[in-house]
Amino acid sequence: MELSIIVPTFNEAPNVAELVRRVALAVEGVDAEIIFVDDSTDDTPDVVRQVAASAPLPVRLIHRDEKTGGLGGAVVEGFAAAASDSCLVMDGDLQHPPEKIPEMVERLSRGDVDVVVASRYAGGGTASGLADRTRVLVSKVSTAVTKAMFPVKLRDVTDPMTGFFLADRRVIDLDGLKPRGFKILLEILARRAFRIAEVPFDFADRHAGESKASLRQGMHFLTQLAALRFGKMSMFAVIGGLGALANVLIVWVLTMLGVNYIVAAVIAAEVTIVGNFLLIERFVFQDMRGQASGAWSRFAKSFGFNNAEAVIRIPIVALMVESGHISSVIATAITLVVAFFVRFVFHSLVVYAP
Ligand code: GDD
Ligand code: MN
Repeated sequence: MELSIIVPTFNEAPNVAELVRRVALAVEGVDAEIIFVDDSTDDTPDVVRQVAASAPLPVRLIHRDEKTGGLGGAVVEGFAAAASDSCLVMDGDLQHPPEKIPEMVERLSRGDVDVVVASRYAGGGTASGLADRTRVLVSKVSTAVTKAMFPVKLRDVTDPMTGFFLADRRVIDLDGLKPRGFKILLEILARRAFRIAEVPFDFADRHAGESKASLRQGMHFLTQLAALRFGKMSMFAVIGGLGALANVLIVWVLTMLGVNYIVAAVIAAEVTIVGNFLLIERFVFQDMRGQASGAWSRFAKSFGFNNAEAVIRIPIVALMVESGHISSVIATAITLVVAFFVRFVFHSLVVYAP
């Protein structure tokens, strides 16, 4: 088997026959199979069996009683069941034109990339099938935010949220994936650095039926983003906490030795800023160092930012206390929390930018 085409379906009965017909035409001459991974409550499974009986290529059906992981979980089951290592994922509603498949297969077969992404946002692609302006906006904004959160891994991808892609499953750690909801490609790409190529495509209108995207899917997406990013952020937080402890300790020791309080505070701050940098280099952004600017340049950016932040925080706390009538402890706590996030974003987007 040269190609397994995985199609997650949820109540797509009126689209199955047309999808199989167009896929079969598109992959004529290729040893390919179609696997429907289905969570439907309508008669989609019956229709798949009927269509399979007379289809010119093998059409398999995996019907799941528990729709674990939704669309993403279905795709992962498809990967596991596929007869070929080359696995193409596409929607069952013909918004993804099957006629693009040969171009994607050809691109992967050149052997220099692990994943081929069909993109609505690469040159020549369109997203006209997105039902309304709100969805276009949501799609564009969430794509931009996602790319900013994974600047290196998604560097070569204009459309990390597409549901149309081809991958060699041997490069994917299937057991490590935690699919929830629609964004299965993001789940895959965010976990490892892949070599990626894109081909543009026109995201068409649905053949029949309605989109299953929902606010709930939107929430899934946000928690997925947080979970995927949490690894780095929690290490960053732990190191920041250790730094704060070290800071207090150094001030204490120095003042015990008779050093002036201000001098002790400055020394402690600079020592922890440098220590912090060395630790995040080693434990947080180690996978991004290679693509970023040189070590001294990274250090200069990090050092400059942390000093500026420490200096700026003082008048901000004063302003909050005086004009906002907030207690100085609460004002300090608020600025520290905000500073933590700003610092994390600055380091991922600027210090370790490719
Ligand atoms: N097995 C299974 N289980 N399939 C599902 C489920 C589920 O819970 N939910 C949806 N599907 C199937 C649909 O039947 C369809 O074949 C495909 O997944 C995509 O679902 P749509 O309802 O058509 O989603 P969409 O068109 O709004 O979203 C598509 O485009 C987005 C880009 O705008 C998907 O490809 C998204 O992944 C993609 O982000
Ligand atoms: Mn769709």
